[in-house]
Amino acid sequence: MIFIDACFGKKTPYTPVWMMRQAGRYLPQYLKVREKAGSFLHLCKNPESAAEVTLQPVDILGVDAAILFSDILVVPLEMGMDLRFSTGEGPIFSNPLMTKADLDKLQINEAAERLEYVYKAIRIIRSKLSSDKALIGFCGAPWTLATYMIEGSGTKTYGKVKKLLYSNPSFLHGVLAKVTEVLKLYLEMQIKSGVNAVQIFDSWASALEEKAFFEFSWRYIQDICSFLKSKYPDVPIIVFPKGISGYLDKIEGEFDVFGVDWSTPIELAKEKLGNRYVLQGNMEPTRLYSKRAIDEGVEHIVNVMQNKRHIFNLGHGILPDVSVENAKYFINSVHEKTKI
Ligand code: CP3
Repeated sequence: MIFIDACFGKKTPYTPVWMMRQAGRYLPQYLKVREKAGSFLHLCKNPESAAEVTLQPVDILGVDAAILFSDILVVPLEMGMDLRFSTGEGPIFSNPLMTKADLDKLQINEAAERLEYVYKAIRIIRSKLSSDKALIGFCGAPWTLATYMIEGSGTKTYGKVKKLLYSNPSFLHGVLAKVTEVLKLYLEMQIKSGVNAVQIFDSWASALEEKAFFEFSWRYIQDICSFLKSKYPDVPIIVFPKGISGYLDKIEGEFDVFGVDWSTPIELAKEKLGNRYVLQGNMEPTRLYSKRAIDEGVEHIVNVMQNKRHIFNLGHGILPDVSVENAKYFINSVHEKTKI
């Protein structure tokens, strides 16, 4: 698989490309399946439908890897939290974590077992996906999940979780450690079910100053990476801590690919990490609104990376109002411009 070779820094005939959130609302075919499923969460819990939308971008756009269709928040859901997705507001937990008693109620082994619908979707996808295309599994980083679990929703200030960080760090560490245990089991089960690589999304990494990032986020990501690498060295691990360009010098660990977000200059990521890790990213997602902007964005990244130790992607998820035509144009132009 070209994608897996690229994850390990091997030479490939072109630079593989996929897009974060590539299965989603910009595709009319996705909207149809979601409507039939009834809701986003029903779609996540129905393995046949989840498999169908996972495969759509491979067929429609020709990306080099499929990413499992699910959500990072199914993990806290199956640990015992009450989750809903409300239109316009995003995800909401009606019973955010506040006390040690709330935390003690959350389950570990049972949660990993209840996520069977994800493992089933993976088995279906892998049986239908062409053998030269990779399937990427994923989870949210413990810090990002803990933030949602404590805030109860998305947040601009991170007021509740940061209050805990300073006033009761041991409680926060307790939450992070418990989530980390579930994530190890969850990713291991994803690998056993057939994913070829895994990505850990740390969307809220940018909320933390340097010392706090390493103490409350990176260390738990690395705990997961070490666990997986000791058992599955052939499965590449991609990390995506968003918005931490100031701390790149100190990034080190048992992973293979570093996901560069769009606000980090790709030159800087290459200078700080490019010799040690393969880089993934990082075209600014709104460039997809214009073909000229796509051309410029792709050319710039190709010029910097020179088709070496690189996987093409956006620097965050594709937006729902991007045209399918422009998404296809992006994928094709990466393949064209990186062909040896
Ligand atoms: O990348 C993919 O195509 C795979 C599927 C995937 C989804 N969410 C599907 C989804 C992945 C990898 C995620 C990860 C995810 N989910 C993250 C980390 C990546 C990031 O974007 O920073 C986060 C923070 C979440 C939490 C989440 N899920 C939010 C904030 C929202 C609502 C915002 C929005 O875009 O509407 C979701 C819902 C969600 N997850 C949708 C999809 C396709 C939209 C649901 C719909 O169909 O209406």
